[in-house]
Amino acid sequence: MGKQWKICVLPGDGIGPEVTRQAVKVYQTVADYYRIPAELDEALIGGAALEKEGMPLPMSTLNRCRAADAILLGAVGDPKWDDQSLAMRPESGLSALRAKMGLYANLRPAVSFPALEDVTPLPRSGGFDLIVVRELSGGLYFGDKGIREEDGTRSAYDVESYSEKEIERIARYAFQVASQRRCDLVSIDKASMLESSRLWREVVERIAPQYPQVSLRHLYADHAAMELVRNPKQFDVILTSNLFGDLLSEEAAALTGSVGLAPSASLGYTAIGIYEAVHGSAPLLAGRDVANPVGAILSVAMMLRYTYSLEMASKAVEWSVMETLKRYRTADIASPQFSPVGTEEMGNQVVEQLKKILPSVIPEPSAGAQENPGAKML
Ligand code: NAD
Ligand code: IPM
Ligand code: MN
Repeated sequence: MGKQWKICVLPGDGIGPEVTRQAVKVYQTVADYYRIPAELDEALIGGAALEKEGMPLPMSTLNRCRAADAILLGAVGDPKWDDQSLAMRPESGLSALRAKMGLYANLRPAVSFPALEDVTPLPRSGGFDLIVVRELSGGLYFGDKGIREEDGTRSAYDVESYSEKEIERIARYAFQVASQRRCDLVSIDKASMLESSRLWREVVERIAPQYPQVSLRHLYADHAAMELVRNPKQFDVILTSNLFGDLLSEEAAALTGSVGLAPSASLGYTAIGIYEAVHGSAPLLAGRDVANPVGAILSVAMMLRYTYSLEMASKAVEWSVMETLKRYRTADIASPQFSPVGTEEMGNQVVEQLKKILPSVIPEPSAGAQENPGAKML
């Protein structure tokens, strides 16, 4: 057993603090079960940090994140900060944190929940289980950007640029993830129009022979967006760029019934990761105890899997969510048979299930923080 767990909690803005509270309860329940002292450090990010410290990612927050095993993050952003410069926006704080921590691989699973078949937007789409491996620290969001003025008119630009090294490391990560799943990888780009995508395709093709067990195909991003809603079951692992991954992972999340259900892990060369729901700060829901905490809770399951290497504990959290969804639903996934419960109640119900399930899982020998699988192959 590891001596102690230490996470840094960044609640952020909007519904971030509410959903994070539920995720922390789940984390604490697992730590208590393994009798591991868990230290929770809480720090500011996004708009909350902007208000109190004048910047969306204060140095103290970065340092405290670096001192933790893992980071549990809520969400950032609100229209009230829309007039800030790009660098000062809450979203830039999050994006900078991911980059400064070297987290280049964003894993976003989307798995259909049998209990939610009645609320999925596609009636016959059930039974899918896919994961998007999104490149997270390069591409359009990190390229040169600016505004120039010529002859009295302004033009704005954002450059999409990927080096061979950046493509290769995320592609290796995705091949590795595929090797541990159903060995089917789809790389998504827009090689019909973009030089960066042509290089992307070339590099992915070049390293593919090193993973002969994985079958690889390429799709253009527009075609992929269509295939995802037409037949999500065809996908196992999706490898794609920062921008396309942002869009396609949210589309995949919606197929499960609500974007509020989707978790994510942002990983790099070490076991330290950021674990956060895919959704944003949902300003209209904030402070009303209506947001779905499942995405945040399932992000704790990912933390247990990738930072602490506790596969069974991770599964126990996932099973607890699946059991809970059979009887309790928040407003975003409610249907006539279910009167919706609030964020807090949903969190409590998952914790109750977890307390019942944990004693039946196989005990795991090492509950200390370890290297993540991506780190091992690089
Ligand atoms: P959003 O994800 O906040 O909301 C999109 C829709 O989904 C809304 O209808 C919202 O009510 C609903 N929704 C989101 N999370 C939910 C939950 N847990 N339970 C129930 N319903 C939920 O996206 P947006 O409206 O485009 O963005 C709002 C703010 O969040 C913006 O400032 C944006 O930049 C920011 N944002 C942050 C993150 C992040 O922190 N990782 C991600 C996306 C957007
Ligand atoms: C997400 C968000 C972020 C992103 C923003 C808030 C920086 O949309 O986590 O998907 O673009 O990655
Ligand atoms: Mn997004």
